[in-house]
Amino acid sequence: MNVAARRPVIAPWGIDAPGMIRVNLAIAALMLIVQLVEGALVIGPLRIVLWLPILFCAAPGFAMLGYSIWGKPRHCNRLLALHDWRGDEMVLDVGTGRGVLLAGAARRALRGHAIGIDLWQAKDLSGNGADQTRAAMDREGVADRTGICSGDARALPLPDESIDVVVSNLCLHNIPQKDGRALACREIARVLRPGGVALLSDMMHLGDYAATLRNEGLSVQRRGPWPLTTFPPLGIVMARKSDAGASAARS
Ligand SMILES: C[S@@+](CC[C@H](N)C(=O)[O-])C[C@H]1O[C@@H](n2cnc3c(N)ncnc32)[C@H](O)[C@@H]1O
Repeated sequence: MNVAARRPVIAPWGIDAPGMIRVNLAIAALMLIVQLVEGALVIGPLRIVLWLPILFCAAPGFAMLGYSIWGKPRHCNRLLALHDWRGDEMVLDVGTGRGVLLAGAARRALRGHAIGIDLWQAKDLSGNGADQTRAAMDREGVADRTGICSGDARALPLPDESIDVVVSNLCLHNIPQKDGRALACREIARVLRPGGVALLSDMMHLGDYAATLRNEGLSVQRRGPWPLTTFPPLGIVMARKSDAGASAARS
């Protein structure tokens, strides 16, 4: 069987922040060993208190792992369902990673095209790389309708008003400076066609994204967060570029 045709059973779209999960679970394991060896010397209610730091490290680690395995595909379907698909859209996935949103968009835009842009940072996603994502698009049967591009969200290598739908999940918060994140939002507004929509999911800074997009003249709504199915809890900014100018020109 072709390697590209086999979908990994566990976390086919990668594990987010793998280093952070590893550190959390390693510290919890270490504290557990210390507790089991040394904790025997401590008596009474203090013993229970000693379990708390273990829980504080292990719980977020397992919750993040659970999101990558089960929550991510579900959340990305929820994000894609916010758009009423015509089927011929030009889609851009900013920070596509292993391509969960890219494949989902291509499955919905059967007569369109979806482009995934990324810097492929290993710290943000396990197995992150353009070749991995290309293989995933082959495996999902959408390679003919998808393109993979190395690029930065702050300088999108695309012409003005060339995209109908911009999607993004857990990418923009990785840009360290506030100015850089605002620049990325302005880039997203720039490439959107009149009438186009941006669906930006993230764990923080959603208010800043909304404010920047509003300043660019887009109408903005917020959805979520969904603390039961995503960790850290994710929310979505939904921003639409007015097509008033284009409609007036058409009529
Ligand atoms: C946590 S991963 C999420 C990947 C994918 N969207 C998903 O939901 O599985 C964040 C992704 O954003 C990418 N990224 C971070 N900063 C970026 C930037 N400035 N421009 C483009 N991609 C970026 C990382 O390389 C990584 O692939």
